[in-house]
Amino acid sequence: MTDLVLGIETSCDDTSVALVDKDGTVAAASTASQVALHNRYGGVYPEMASRAHVDKILPTVRMVLEDSGVDPRTLRAIGVTRGPGLIGSLMVGVSTAAALGQGWGVPVLGINHLRGHLRSADLEERRVDYPATILLVSGGHTFLARMTDPGTITLLGSTVDDSVGEAYDKVARMLDLGYPGGPVVDKLAATGNSVFPFPRPMLTDGLNFSFSGLKSAVERFLAANPDAPPADVAASFVAAVLEVLVAKCRRALAEQPSECLVIVGGVAASPQLRAAAGELCAQAGVRLSLPPLRWSTDNGAMIGLAAWDYLAAGADLPPEATTSLSIESF
Ligand code: KG4
Ligand code: ZN
Repeated sequence: MTDLVLGIETSCDDTSVALVDKDGTVAAASTASQVALHNRYGGVYPEMASRAHVDKILPTVRMVLEDSGVDPRTLRAIGVTRGPGLIGSLMVGVSTAAALGQGWGVPVLGINHLRGHLRSADLEERRVDYPATILLVSGGHTFLARMTDPGTITLLGSTVDDSVGEAYDKVARMLDLGYPGGPVVDKLAATGNSVFPFPRPMLTDGLNFSFSGLKSAVERFLAANPDAPPADVAASFVAAVLEVLVAKCRRALAEQPSECLVIVGGVAASPQLRAAAGELCAQAGVRLSLPPLRWSTDNGAMIGLAAWDYLAAGADLPPEATTSLSIESF
């Protein structure tokens, strides 16, 4: 038996597969992105996403196995995202993993996608010390959690409506910038000035978040000011988002003494967020732990690393697709 898990991620628009050992070393990885497919719709088109996963999943698995030269019958396990996510996309991953596991004689574990993100900062090298305060900012989720060890997670606060990534993607659509919105909004924002006073929802209010009011404020502003410089609109939007995220992280760190602040999920790829979090951590005297950019957005490696936690905890969850799943469940 090798000391490797095959991680498979298909919850949204990336078909991603990786071989990972229990320390987070990635032996091989490959991702087939569907960005080009969904770009013209300004968002993920679920039916097309599942069809693209069907086309890409076996070639992606094959590529990873060939790159590593690993005999799949010697794998420790297959970890596959069971949820949350788009049902059709999840079903392609779990049914393929189940069939491969059966054929190779390897156990298959259904993994909570959010637990994958939470472990992404330990890929390639160990960066997280416990207890840790974790901000997860992705296209589907926005929350703060506390982890006392890799398997023990307590939710501290979450969005009551939209996620940060969703707000980025909607603002990108309003500005005609394509999909995914995060990278393009960030890039444009870097060339503008934060001059428009967009709201900072729930800024002084506990550890929950709200982003739908900010999104609507940008929409109303653009309807009333169609000639406003897009770079200044983007910069003002990003400034509002960052002020809220930083204030919530500061509050969480003050309430829950932590060894480090960990920021994960697609929006953790934002250079502006990385810089603002760096300043916050320097002031607060805690370490900042960030996944490498490659492992911030959805990937199979984080699912493989989370699968090791499941093996350690004896959490033997079947590979069944589940559209909604809380961070506290396995
Ligand atoms: O974690 P992820 O790949 O998928 C989900 O689990 O949702 O996150 C995708 C989200 C998208 O909303 C995308 O616009 C955002 O992450 N994103 C970014 C950046 N790169 C991706 N947001 C801000 N800045 C970025 N550089
Ligand atoms: Zn994700």
